Amino acid sequence: MTKFAAFMILAMVRLAVTLPAYESLAGLSEREIGEFININGVARIPNPPAPLPENDNGLKLVNDPAHPFIAAGPNDIRGPCSALNTLASHGYLPRNGAARPDQLVTGVMEGLNLGNDFAKFLVYQAFLMNGNPLTNLMSIGMKTPETGPDPPKPALVGGLSQHGTFEGDTSMTRVDAFFRDQAVFNETLFQEFTEFSTKYGFNGTYDLNAVAELRHQRLLDSMANNPELVFASPRILSAYSEAVFPTIFFVDGRLNNRQLTIDAARHFFDFQMMPADFHRQPAPVNFTIIDPLVSEIFNKHPFTPGVNKGKGNFVLMLETPSLSDFCGIYEDIVLRVIPGQYPKPTGALKQALNTNLDFFYGAVSAEHDCKQVFPYGK
Ligand code: HEM
Repeated sequence: MTKFAAFMILAMVRLAVTLPAYESLAGLSEREIGEFININGVARIPNPPAPLPENDNGLKLVNDPAHPFIAAGPNDIRGPCSALNTLASHGYLPRNGAARPDQLVTGVMEGLNLGNDFAKFLVYQAFLMNGNPLTNLMSIGMKTPETGPDPPKPALVGGLSQHGTFEGDTSMTRVDAFFRDQAVFNETLFQEFTEFSTKYGFNGTYDLNAVAELRHQRLLDSMANNPELVFASPRILSAYSEAVFPTIFFVDGRLNNRQLTIDAARHFFDFQMMPADFHRQPAPVNFTIIDPLVSEIFNKHPFTPGVNKGKGNFVLMLETPSLSDFCGIYEDIVLRVIPGQYPKPTGALKQALNTNLDFFYGAVSAEHDCKQVFPYGK
């Protein structure tokens, strides 16, 4: 038997034993993944999953017996995203918190009914900034050996908790990285979330009014107190979209009134758990639903991107794309942020990056008229 065949059998046996639902490299040791790359170059990159089939893309009980909540164990990774944490704790994603992009796309479609394009946009964007293109794995939290040996520096492969990539300042339930751990749920901030819902939301819920006020307040707070605040592309887009998401995806699809109760918010944000009997959205949610809501909250309290040069000294960055410039933010990610980590990739690494860049652009162009840009040539 060749070394390769022996390795693959070992890998398959391990996967069969430990991860029956996922054909993932996650869970293999660094040595085993290294061996895989030595032999294979890079892990195979599956195509992005197709949309859910028409006969299975509607309202559905998702906190079901096939997806029981199991609290994260000591070796399971969780991070700054309340949705992905929850999906991992229900087995819609690998419970250890290291996943392939296609698993993430499938997990968010099945568990919360994200539209296919929207899911791919979030996942491939995050993967290019935080994942490992060689092993095709990404941590949903801190950096971990679970995602295998890193490509050469300055690549970070930091996982979703990596500050200054997808993760950034002014989060609603996490403090800014300048203060402490930017990925951990913060009870004081959740109390503020609750107060704003009581004050501005219908019947004390987190609705679009509450979103607009809390989002604005979190920016004012960081401007006043975080001397190193960065509030520019691409963070501005995720900050404003994430504020809206809970009013959609965390609300039971049978009600679907865009009014999130504090009890349901507590479940997702703090317990990383779906409420009992939770049903997902009644139809896939794409940009056409998200974009106008983001514009609506922006228009209530418009801002210009910028950075703090010391507390209370917010300096505008007029050269960074504004929140409404979706294609500008796409180009900023592809031509500045990603080459910042991968300045001159070659060989299999370049190929893997280009493949993921194509997947990312496929999602970007599905509902936005943006021109594709190529940091590493066509
Ligand atoms: C599909 C792939 C997704 C990826 C890769 C992703 C990634 C992230 C990351 C990196 C953060 C940290 C940003 C920060 O606050 O600094 C975050 C925050 C967040 N995510 Fe996700 N996310 C995804 C989907 C979702 C979905 C479907 C929801 C639905 C509710 C969601 C809700 C949130 C919320 C509410 C926050 C903000 C937490 C806070 O500000 O306290 N995410 N996500």
